Amino acid sequence: MHAKGNCCCSFDDYKLTTEWLLQQTHHRPKVAVICGSGLGLLADGAANKKTFRYQDVPNFPVSTVTGHEGSLVFGTIDGTSCVFMKGHFHLYEGYSLCQVTFPVRTFKLMGVESMLVINASGGLCDDFKVGDIMIIKDHINLPGFAGQHPLFGPNDERFGIRFPCMSDAYSKVLRRLALEVGAELGCSDIMREGVYCMVSGPNFETIAEARMLQILGCDSVGMSMVPEVTVAKHCGLRVLGLSLITNKVSLEYGREEKVHHEEVLETSKMQSEVLQKLVTRLISRCQQESINTH
Ligand code: HPA
Repeated sequence: MHAKGNCCCSFDDYKLTTEWLLQQTHHRPKVAVICGSGLGLLADGAANKKTFRYQDVPNFPVSTVTGHEGSLVFGTIDGTSCVFMKGHFHLYEGYSLCQVTFPVRTFKLMGVESMLVINASGGLCDDFKVGDIMIIKDHINLPGFAGQHPLFGPNDERFGIRFPCMSDAYSKVLRRLALEVGAELGCSDIMREGVYCMVSGPNFETIAEARMLQILGCDSVGMSMVPEVTVAKHCGLRVLGLSLITNKVSLEYGREEKVHHEEVLETSKMQSEVLQKLVTRLISRCQQESINTH
């Protein structure tokens, strides 16, 4: 008997979805962008858009969270063909990690080379302010420690090796580029670098949990993105992760303020314009870098 792990998708499922999408659009994206909570507007700057609702795409899960739209948008930014996910899937919604990461392998099969992930997280680092943009330099896969890992189960060599290296999950070249582009746009004062930790959610952290994460070296905490990044790295995509600090995580007993989802959405809305500028410029520069370094 073969071990099944938690993967419910076969190579043929990814292939079918990829072929279906490529039949419906002339776009051949090189860059994929996953937009988190309230950040779906990032796709609006693209030209020649072709939009698919998740429920119309074969095998695609459907997003259930307020503030997370559910559509796949193909378009071009400065001549670079891109695909945007407006809204993504979370473990806490009840999806398997195979469903959560399903789009990433379809991106790989359609010829995507680089993936940008933009999400929301709570700041643990004392120096961070609400509205800061953290360039992710590394992550802690806390659900992965507990066996909730997207690469569990038989390994499909057509995507990548059994034991992938994760010490360089976030491209150094793209991180440097993000800092450069941030400086060009005059937002160096809100650009940070740090370690992101994923928790499964859906509750925000207790104070003891938040303190533990801070001791572990985490600068911010969120409920998404690490499975997608892990699968992207496994199949050889270049990854850039940006995390918008939407709130400060409570680390003190006796403080009255409480984090809530609306605050996360408000901060996302407030910073969506600057993020859009950053992402737009990054995409065109990221393709140039890719051409120059290949
Ligand atoms: N904790 C976990 N996930 C989050 C937070 C937080 O404080 N803010 C946005 N996503």
